[in-house]
Amino acid sequence: MLEQLKQTFIETFGSINEVQIFFAPGRVNLIGEHTDYNGGHVFPCALSIGTYAIARKRNDRKIRLYSMNYAEASVIEVDLNDLSFDDAHGWANYPIGVVWTFLQSNYSITTGFEVAFYGNIPNGAGLSSSASIELATSIVLKELFEFDIEKLDMIKLSQKAENEFVGVTCGIMDQFAIGMGKKDHAILLNCDTLEYVYSPILLEEYAMIIADTNKRRGLTDSKYNERRKQCEEALKTLKRELDIETLADLTKDDFEKHRLLIEDPIIQKRAKHVVYENRRTIEAVEKLNRNDINGFGRLMNESHRSLRDDYEVSCKELDVLVKAAWNEDVIGSRMTGAGFGGCTINIVARGRVDSFIERVGSAYRELTGLDADFYVVEIGDGVTTL
Ligand code: GLA
Repeated sequence: MLEQLKQTFIETFGSINEVQIFFAPGRVNLIGEHTDYNGGHVFPCALSIGTYAIARKRNDRKIRLYSMNYAEASVIEVDLNDLSFDDAHGWANYPIGVVWTFLQSNYSITTGFEVAFYGNIPNGAGLSSSASIELATSIVLKELFEFDIEKLDMIKLSQKAENEFVGVTCGIMDQFAIGMGKKDHAILLNCDTLEYVYSPILLEEYAMIIADTNKRRGLTDSKYNERRKQCEEALKTLKRELDIETLADLTKDDFEKHRLLIEDPIIQKRAKHVVYENRRTIEAVEKLNRNDINGFGRLMNESHRSLRDDYEVSCKELDVLVKAAWNEDVIGSRMTGAGFGGCTINIVARGRVDSFIERVGSAYRELTGLDADFYVVEIGDGVTTL
């Protein structure tokens, strides 16, 4: 991949002299979905697949960006003095947004630069190809312009680019996992305090399989923003009676005692998911740390039911794929990421990987007419210079 990208860089930008090379992974979330923007816990890990970036400074004020994943878009060129969101820039709004947030935070980007990207994360599959490009851009800026910037600030500026430049009000999970990922570990992150601990995931006996529905997430951004608003409304109502800062401050008991304060049954269900999912995430990691992989898997399954029934962010294709997995002897299976399409995450005994893929794949084809893609994934490190 990297050789192809080098070749492309030469073809696009003339030579490969004085370049720097970077890698930012994709991520998958094991449990703790739609909790990050509610001050709750998440448990994601970085993947060994991701985005490569080759970059070099220029002598003028031009930013020139090329992605082998969007070759039809050709080179996108913008001026450092004139950065604004533009539909016509498509994928490049993500890196341009990161440059914009760095400038807003007074990082002095003194010249233009050029970058070629190449990623092997399926686009729009819920594995954070966009946050991967954001963090890749952050490290490009850090290294080209020798900024003394902490990882956590790169993470925050990347999230800010997505929130304020691209206009998706995502939480911090994706950028955090991609920034802080550690090989063979998942990260239990408290999204309220940003405290985190690494948990070893030693997948000797078990494999992690990502199954892609190949149903691309339609309407995700508007539905995502709608869920956020519903959670804000639930919190506002509960705060009238309760001394809480976030929905994740509630225990399940607190919630059950006060749930009727929320009149709208839909909003009530949304809040229920958040409160239960947050507690479930903490419990699941405790189980994993006690080597109770089956207990962990059961909570993954419960997480899926809650996302399907209470948070209503699943879809037919995800449900079919998860059900087909449940019919095999999977340890745990659930949708992962924002939902409305994208991928499921499955934990399967190593010896059963091939038959799992074959049987789940054919059940899925039969019921949806679609082919799923399966990836047996490894947990990799966070964003890095190569
Ligand atoms: C998307 C967002 C994350 C998180 C998940 C749902 O991936 O970018 O911040 O909210 O959805 O858990």
